[in-house]
Amino acid sequence: MAMSLLPLALFTLFFVQPLAAIDPNWYDASATFYGDMNGGETMQGACGYGDLFQQGYGLETTALSTALFNNGLSCGACFEIRCVNDPQWCIKEVNSITVTATNLCPPNYIDGSWCNPPHQHFDLSMKMFTTIAIYQAGIIPVQYRRVPCNKIGGVRFELRGNPYFLMVLVYNVGNAGDVYRLDVKGSNTGWIEMTHNWGQFWHTGVNLVGQELSFWINTSDGKALMFISVAPSNWQFGQTYQSSLNF
Ligand SMILES: *[C@@H]1O[C@H](CO)[C@@H](O)[C@H](O)[C@H]1NC(C)=O
Repeated sequence: MAMSLLPLALFTLFFVQPLAAIDPNWYDASATFYGDMNGGETMQGACGYGDLFQQGYGLETTALSTALFNNGLSCGACFEIRCVNDPQWCIKEVNSITVTATNLCPPNYIDGSWCNPPHQHFDLSMKMFTTIAIYQAGIIPVQYRRVPCNKIGGVRFELRGNPYFLMVLVYNVGNAGDVYRLDVKGSNTGWIEMTHNWGQFWHTGVNLVGQELSFWINTSDGKALMFISVAPSNWQFGQTYQSSLNF
């Protein structure tokens, strides 16, 4: 296995590509899997999402290597992935899978993990990996491209923190899927630009307790959408508010 991957390793080392926008081109990467067949994540990962089944992501998910993760800003982006150039391990009848980025595959400098920079690597749920490749492969060469995300229902906003530090987790974002700017507005304030905290958590120090909240999202494809009065004035920390809108 290690032998057959050497050319791939060299290729990845010399041709580092940035995270592609939604476009028809395929980019080279590699893929492994984590967990077992039922293994979705139910604990908070590096994107900040919680129970992926509850949040609508299910098993159609992947963790991204550092080179693709973009410090969390790639969380929520969707990828079409196909197994390539490996007749022994690729399942020929299946063209591709589509997954949402929901976690980071952390770099591991001790045993030369595929998730170390500058590798473009996907650590898939086992269910997704075994859809395109034979389980025993362990690691496979793949190609990927950004595709629009199809989400059911509106964008959701989970409110955390305290009156002096409001944290907002944005999820279930359709189309581009990855938020790169979030603004919040209380019923008594103007628009306030929130600061990227980690994963898809954004924060502000402005106290908005007791005010109706609206949000304004910019996604990586240059689109923007306003979500007016998503949370009522009696909103609570720990609650999630769903808009009826999506991208
Ligand atoms: C966000 O979207 C708005 C509306 O389209 C646009 O005016 C603004 O420049 C965008 N912000 C960023 C940082 O791209």
